[in-house]
Amino acid sequence: MLETKSKVAFLEQANQIEVPEQFLEQMQQYEEMLMMYRCAIREVQTKLEILNDALSVRYKRNPINFIKSRIKAPVSIMNKLERKGLEISLDSIEKNLNDVAGIRVVCHFVDDIYDVAHMLAIQDDLKILQVKDYIKNPKPNGYRSYHMIVEVPVFLPKRKKPMRVEVQIRTIAMDFWASLDHQLRYKKDIENSEEILKELKECAEIISSTDYQMQKIRKKIEKVTEDS
Ligand code: GTP
Ligand code: MG
Repeated sequence: MLETKSKVAFLEQANQIEVPEQFLEQMQQYEEMLMMYRCAIREVQTKLEILNDALSVRYKRNPINFIKSRIKAPVSIMNKLERKGLEISLDSIEKNLNDVAGIRVVCHFVDDIYDVAHMLAIQDDLKILQVKDYIKNPKPNGYRSYHMIVEVPVFLPKRKKPMRVEVQIRTIAMDFWASLDHQLRYKKDIENSEEILKELKECAEIISSTDYQMQKIRKKIEKVTEDS
């Protein structure tokens, strides 16, 4: 793939436009920053995949159903900085935003979430900067998930740089609710729709109780198969 500078040089030649040197520098730095976030995602995702393998040997089943990752889109980065009244610069992104790199880990059962979170937290090359347990303390709208902001070192040829990654860990059921909630409410002004919010919350409660019931069933089956 062409680097920013050569891409711009090509555009300059083709269109005979002039691009300020400072802008070019900033674009290059932005690309480098995104590359660092992508590396950080790979580091954390590999750790999670290894944990899944290790735990699956111990439990004879996989605790993780799937892992998904994303880099926040430039426009969302800009919007968030603006919304929070923060400076719009590369330094400000790295200093103020915890979710430029995001990983979603979807587990089968609620206790898998705590196992995975714990096993990740005790790794000594990874720092936990923040934990929000929206399972023990669901959001008022019913949202449930376990959120961690972790910091991992990314090794460059001459130095290492700590990078932050947001890790959201949830069950399939919690993910089902959050995905539909996002789709239903995203960019829609339904602030006054008390009834809709109430109904969504009721769904979250039903889903949560099913989650615990499924976990109970699993434990019963484990007990029966252990005893036999
Ligand atoms: P953001 O500024 O939105 O990132 O929130 P925050 O910094 O206060 O962090 P929080 O832990 O509350 O939420 C981070 C992320 O969790 C969001 O970007 C969403 O991906 C997810 N999330 C939080 N609340 C909800 C919710 O009510 N519904 C859905 N679908 N997702 C949510
Ligand atoms: Mg976010």
